[in-house]
Amino acid sequence: MIEATLWHPVADAQDVAQAPLAARLLQRDIVLWRDGEGRVQAFADQCPHRGARLSLGRVHEGRLECPYHGWRFAASGQCEHVPALPHFTPPATHCARRHAVHEAHGLVWVRLEAGDAAPPAFGPEDDARLRKLNCGPYDVAASAPRIIENFLDMSHFGFVHEGWLGTREATAIEDYRVEPLPTGLRATGCKAWQPQSNLHSTQAAQVEYTYEVTGPYTAVLTKVPEAGTTAVQDWREAIALFVCPLTPETSRVWFRLAVADFDTPDAKLRAFQHTIFTQDQPVLESQRPQRLPLDLRAELHTAADKASSAYRRFLKASGITFGVC
Ligand code: FES
Ligand code: CO
Repeated sequence: MIEATLWHPVADAQDVAQAPLAARLLQRDIVLWRDGEGRVQAFADQCPHRGARLSLGRVHEGRLECPYHGWRFAASGQCEHVPALPHFTPPATHCARRHAVHEAHGLVWVRLEAGDAAPPAFGPEDDARLRKLNCGPYDVAASAPRIIENFLDMSHFGFVHEGWLGTREATAIEDYRVEPLPTGLRATGCKAWQPQSNLHSTQAAQVEYTYEVTGPYTAVLTKVPEAGTTAVQDWREAIALFVCPLTPETSRVWFRLAVADFDTPDAKLRAFQHTIFTQDQPVLESQRPQRLPLDLRAELHTAADKASSAYRRFLKASGITFGVC
């Protein structure tokens, strides 16, 4: 399964602290914990001894201790101590199943199987002029690809986000460009008339977005600064959507906001994003099939949907099977 060789977000980095944390990815249970150096580790959440969940155990002196018979595992996965046989040196075969793991964008990312794909990029991450904060997670009863496709879709704004990102008075979608990228696609020149495009909007405005699909289940929206705006009003903003595929029909979702606004409290910035996403969520969860159909004949498409059609073609060409049908 190609998906298992890619990096996926599984938890907020700050939630992996003293105690082991259970997480789920691609229908597999994993346990996250921090070793003696503070590095996050990811193991299969199943003790190799008798199959107990390691996430029910504890971290002791930089080792993960199983809740059942107290076997202790080092960051390498090696079992170093079997309390029932204090003088026994466990051989190399006595080890927990380890997964590749790293921290980025305030999240823990896991790759279940060896692969060479890079973690999804988020350009604004290193831009000190932009403040970053996460919103989520949201547990959503929709497949990861349905959620990405919703993010790329502008023609729902006037209905799902009426009075916010759109209005029934201006629903037409101007032609935009879509080009393939090695990681997915880029859609540019995506314009919308928005009554309340962000927290600070005082009047409706024409906004222009660029969308980038940065991996099968990740995407980034960049708001193009309005021409002629001054430096102070240069309202740059980017939002990354990071989706963890839990099962083929359920997902965990985070947004990473990158905004030029350093004054507004986190909670207020999150509240805006929360409002928008909780407008999307019931519609997303109503879609049938929950998995995204990759046969373009299975649903109807118009020119306004060309970003989503391109996304479906990309998933098909990538050999993605999880969350699609
Ligand atoms: Fe984990 Fe026995 S099941 S130590
Ligand atoms: Co929406």
